Amino acid sequence: MGHGPAFPDLSPRLGALAGCLQALVRRAWSGVVALQHRRDAKPAGEAPDRASAGGEPRADDAFAQAIKSAAPMPPGMVCLVGAGPGSVDLLTLRALRLLGEADVIVHDRLVSDEALHLARADAERIYVGKSRANHCLPQAEINALLVHLARQGRRVVRLKGGDPFVFGRGGEEAAALAEAGIPYQVVPGVTAALACGADAGIPLTHRDAAQMLTLVTGHTRDGRLDIDATALARPNQTLAIYMGLANLPDLVRQLIGAGLDASHPAAIVEAGGTVASRRLDGTLGSLTAMARVLRTAQPALIIIGEVVRLAPAVAPAAALSTRYAGRRPPTWKKPGNRIKPVITAHAGRDATL
Ligand SMILES: C[S@@+](CC[C@H](N)C(=O)[O-])C[C@H]1O[C@@H](n2cnc3c(N)ncnc32)[C@H](O)[C@@H]1O
Repeated sequence: MGHGPAFPDLSPRLGALAGCLQALVRRAWSGVVALQHRRDAKPAGEAPDRASAGGEPRADDAFAQAIKSAAPMPPGMVCLVGAGPGSVDLLTLRALRLLGEADVIVHDRLVSDEALHLARADAERIYVGKSRANHCLPQAEINALLVHLARQGRRVVRLKGGDPFVFGRGGEEAAALAEAGIPYQVVPGVTAALACGADAGIPLTHRDAAQMLTLVTGHTRDGRLDIDATALARPNQTLAIYMGLANLPDLVRQLIGAGLDASHPAAIVEAGGTVASRRLDGTLGSLTAMARVLRTAQPALIIIGEVVRLAPAVAPAAALSTRYAGRRPPTWKKPGNRIKPVITAHAGRDATL
């Protein structure tokens, strides 16, 4: 039951880079180079400069340099990695490098299949995803699984949607690893609020409208809504509400009860940071009705505040251009009633814990 590198004649680090770079550099930078040449504009940044000066191979070098500028992950380490909101081009370079180095990827429901495809071909994938009220694997068992895999001497990437420390239970996993004496690292990801704001064109902290951005969960550990409505109703702030749909009527009632007007601007952004993103505009009073037309398989974030009014009626060009590039939306696992982790094992791999 070996867990050896994909390229046995190379170090794991080089093997990882080879796996990642072969596919990615060609696709990513050839696209950039083609675009730069077509526009005949002065490229920004080192890699495009090199690309226009000498062609694609030198751009590859710059990309390889950018991606390998840190020490490789040692065996027995766990990296809690933010996968961002869904589209793989919102992964960080560090996340990409670690995906290429890991022997095993432990991932959630909101990690897209496309992101998983960037892992080493022979890396084991273990799905421990959960959706509201449906925990595929209880958190304590996920913690134990991470410790177990690390003690086997494997390089583990715990891949989580968005950012690991923003409503992602990364703190609980980090604490369990620290307690077990497992070396770990946390790699930030683009959290849903930022991706949704960008895609919807909602400037979350526009200085004319908001001096505060508050990230709120609409769903506590036991499923209840537990907010300080008085604090959230204070003026000049933007609320970004994660997991807000289950308790939405109660949320709206409490905010109106604390002094926010029913006409206060509000939006729901579905699948932010992906080519399937969609913005629904309305008011605090219309949020519950708006939520009825959402697509159930897509994650959604609620944004409340005057900044919603500052969003242009037309979606930002960046979102449109991605759509026009013919990209498909990320595929997420549908919420199900699994009670065991789903392990994608490779032939000859022992998938039992
Ligand atoms: C368990 S929280 C995880 C948040 C994640 N750690 C982050 O930083 O974005 C899941 C909630 O985040 C929000 N969310 C995650 N990805 C999203 C996306 N692409 N678009 C809109 N909302 C998203 C939804 O409210 C979803 O119910």
